[in-house]
Amino acid sequence: MTTLSIIKADTGGFVGHSEVHPEMLSEARGALHDAIGDGLLVDGQVARCGDDISLIMTHEHGPDAEAVHSFAWQTFLRTTEIAKRLGLYGAGQDLLSTAFSGNLRGMGPGYAELEFTERPSEPVICFLADKTEPGAWNLPLYKMFADPFNTAGLVIDAKMHAGFRFEVYDLHQDKRIVFDTPREAYDLLMFIGAPARYVVHSVESTTLDIPAAATSTQRLSLIAGKYVGKDDPVMIVRCQSGLPAVGEVLEPFAFPHSVAGCMRGSHHAPIMPVGLEQATPARFDGPPRVVALGFQINDGKLIGPRDMFADPSFDRARATANKAMDYLRRHGPFEPHRLALEDLEYTTMHQLEARLTNRWEPLPTAGEEDSVLATTPRS
Ligand code: 13P
Ligand code: 13P
Ligand code: MG
Ligand code: MG
Ligand code: MG
Ligand code: MG
Repeated sequence: MTTLSIIKADTGGFVGHSEVHPEMLSEARGALHDAIGDGLLVDGQVARCGDDISLIMTHEHGPDAEAVHSFAWQTFLRTTEIAKRLGLYGAGQDLLSTAFSGNLRGMGPGYAELEFTERPSEPVICFLADKTEPGAWNLPLYKMFADPFNTAGLVIDAKMHAGFRFEVYDLHQDKRIVFDTPREAYDLLMFIGAPARYVVHSVESTTLDIPAAATSTQRLSLIAGKYVGKDDPVMIVRCQSGLPAVGEVLEPFAFPHSVAGCMRGSHHAPIMPVGLEQATPARFDGPPRVVALGFQINDGKLIGPRDMFADPSFDRARATANKAMDYLRRHGPFEPHRLALEDLEYTTMHQLEARLTNRWEPLPTAGEEDSVLATTPRS
């Protein structure tokens, strides 16, 4: 069995939160090179989206393996040192814990891992996003695996006709549930339509009984109890031969749907599909970006990547994202550009509420003086 792991972290931004410094990327490349040489990994590549470094790795240790997670943690400590030396912004931003113990759960770095038996041809797409949260994958995953208007194979391919199972996490109550589509598609939508709380963690083929997709699901703010940057999630999707075709997996991103993130992690903005060159969120720290790196996995080796969104067929999605950004920006500090209050709870709202507690008064009853500006005489 092969395990494909993407482990990612923001260990410092260049400039602000817009990119990763090249020295940090070459440090991570060196670390991966050594880990392949030592036999820990079968193969590995470094990629970045915005200010987040992703280690894309194949190995035989399975998901949640201490050796692999520990290697990623050590690598992020090394890139953090470079960020500190260069005075980059938010050095070590996603490393919320001081010491590694066992695996990365609850420590800050995000990870998506998929263990599978390699098929004769194994095309996978690794999606990396910046300036958004893991629920951003809900809508595209639904379209890929449950919407026949997106995925022709759900109708045409006999191996897809029975549908897919979605495993959904409730991030507020730390529990999970599995929905069978198409039978339970509407139940599924009731939950994953609220992506700040309910997040698709994995998808499996009903007919083939094999894993098809995995996402990074952690919310940094829920771990830290305060705002510490956005999660900037990653996702792995296997394609073809009874799973959605590569083009069906990319198709949902032709619509730059609105996600939570962007400036200070506190705004709704469209997610823009881009090639690696353009994965550098700038305007209002956005719009949020997604890159799609295509690989053929062969005997565990990562043949690729192909930069799938660096293609003119996504030009219109980028233009639409810019238009939607213009529209939303004009709301300034108002919803629905700014997130709703319950999603801002880990920012300054708590402090502000506490400071103003004594200033709130009950509404006046009928006939009472109705002005709180009592010192201002009225004629
Ligand atoms: P090709 O004939 O180019 O291999 O395409 C097959 C296919 O199914 C595309 O989705
Ligand atoms: P990142 O999570 O990408 O660091 O973004 C943080 C932020 O506050 C952007 O405005
Ligand atoms: Mg950052
Ligand atoms: Mg980021
Ligand atoms: Mg972040
Ligand atoms: Mg082979």
